[in-house]
Amino acid sequence: MKKITIAIDGFSSTGKSTLAKQIAKELGYIYVDTGAMYRAVTYFAMRHNFVSENHLDSEGLIKELPNITLQFHFNEEAEFAEMYLNEENIEIAIRTIEVSRLVSKVAEISEVRAKLVEQQQAMGKNKGIVMDGRDIGTVVFPDAELKLFMTASTETKAQRRFDELVEKGQHVTFEEVLQNVQERDYIDTHRDDSPLVKADDAIEIDNSHMTKKEQFELVMEMVSEKL
Ligand code: C5P
Repeated sequence: MKKITIAIDGFSSTGKSTLAKQIAKELGYIYVDTGAMYRAVTYFAMRHNFVSENHLDSEGLIKELPNITLQFHFNEEAEFAEMYLNEENIEIAIRTIEVSRLVSKVAEISEVRAKLVEQQQAMGKNKGIVMDGRDIGTVVFPDAELKLFMTASTETKAQRRFDELVEKGQHVTFEEVLQNVQERDYIDTHRDDSPLVKADDAIEIDNSHMTKKEQFELVMEMVSEKL
C-alpha cells in the first residue's frame, strides 16, 4: 500500500504526540517525537553547564554537537520509543519542568536545528512516518502529503500539561505550568530560525473541545483520502 508522510505541528501541549502515536500505531508507521530530540540536546547542555535560567553558552554547545548522539529505542512493554542520549536512556529526565523551561532557548540555535533536522529527514526518507514538532510541515518535510496544525486554548493546554506532570509524580503548580506553556509558545513563534507557523497547506485543528477519539477519527478520515 502507498505510504505517506504525516507532519503534525502546533503549540505546546496541544496533544500532538498522543494523536501522532495513535495514528502511527493504526497505520503501522514510525512515530517520531522531535520535541524529545530538542529536549535531549537541552538536557545535555544543562549537564555541561551550557545553559541555565540566566545564561546560554551557544558557542560551547555548538562545539560539542558532534559528540551528541541521539537515538530512539522502542520499549516493547510501554509500546513507545524512548529517547537515548549517547546510549543512555533519558526518557524520564527530559520530561521535567526544568528541561521545559530551557528547551526553547536551546531550540533557537540554528546549528542545533540543522543537526536535528538532518537526522529527522533521514528517518523519514522512506515515508510511512508520523512526525510531530514545530517545523515539520514547513522545514523538515515541506512535501508531506498530510500536514496538521494543532491549536487549543491556553487554559486547555496548561491543564493538559499540568495533569501529565502530576501523573508522572512531579511537584508543580498550575501557574508554573501555565507560565511555561505561554513562554515556550511565545519563543517558538517569534524565533528567527524556523518559527512555529502554520504551513499554507496545513489543516488547522483546534482541539479545545474535542476528545482524543474524535481527533483520531477525524484525522484517520483525512489519511484515508490520501492513500
Ligand atoms: O514537543 P515538545 O513540547 O516536547 O517540544 C519541546 C520544545 O522543543 C518546544 O517548545 C520547542 O522549543 C522545541 N521544538 C522545536 N522544533 C520542533 C520540536 C520541538 O523547536 N520540531
